[in-house]
Amino acid sequence: MTDSPRAPEGTSTKPGPGIRESLRVLVLSGSLRTGSTNSRLAALVASLVGRAGATADLAHLRDFDTPSYDGDAETAQGPPAGAVALRDRIEAAHAFVMASPEYNASVPGVVKNAIDWVSRLRPQPFKDKQTLLVSASPSMVGGNRGLWALRVPLEHLGARVYPDMFSLAQAHQAFTDDGDLIDTRLQERLAATVSSFLDLVEADTLYPCLQRRWYEFLGDSTSASVTQRTEC
Ligand code: FNR
Repeated sequence: MTDSPRAPEGTSTKPGPGIRESLRVLVLSGSLRTGSTNSRLAALVASLVGRAGATADLAHLRDFDTPSYDGDAETAQGPPAGAVALRDRIEAAHAFVMASPEYNASVPGVVKNAIDWVSRLRPQPFKDKQTLLVSASPSMVGGNRGLWALRVPLEHLGARVYPDMFSLAQAHQAFTDDGDLIDTRLQERLAATVSSFLDLVEADTLYPCLQRRWYEFLGDSTSASVTQRTEC
């Protein structure tokens, strides 16, 4: 058995802050409502992205207004400006965080409609995009069922949806005036989830060697992949 290389005690294997800063994360609220709890959660995630050393781009779905998808309108006028603008913002980011409400145990129509419009554009920006899903709801479940439903179209489009998700229950009474979570253990959990997600985004974006390790599971025995792994 070989020992893994270890950093000397007291030193960090993490890169300097400059490297993380170059990572741009689009954090999008999927609620159109003023005073939305998902917009508050999106703002908190954007703040945590910044505190973890990366660069957040906070956005709201109302900034990307799209009519109901209509194939005739698409043929006659092309995609709406809102869909093109959203595609461009996703494309410009290394990673994507979506804070989405849950409507009737599923994805809100406005969120799905925006995804449908954006999916018609080329390049299609969800493909290979590292994606984290969070939700807020006044219920005890926090909108988690909506996130499972949201995974389906995003994974279908090639987004790499992070296994962990974060759903904030009783969100209407969960925030401090400063926008943090009143429950400090929940805040720590959210910060840890964001930080772990950023570790993956950093590896996937900046270190091609680790990128290959991520995509090739250890039991993969296809010859080309094995050669690439040993070259790392
Ligand atoms: C809801 N809401 C809701 N909440 C939930 O936890 N599970 C659900 O299935 C639903 N269904 C639902 C359907 C419709 C049509 C509406 C309008 C609302 C309540 C929802 O979570 C609540 O309104 C949140 O406050 C919405 O998120 P924002 O706008 O605060 O971000």
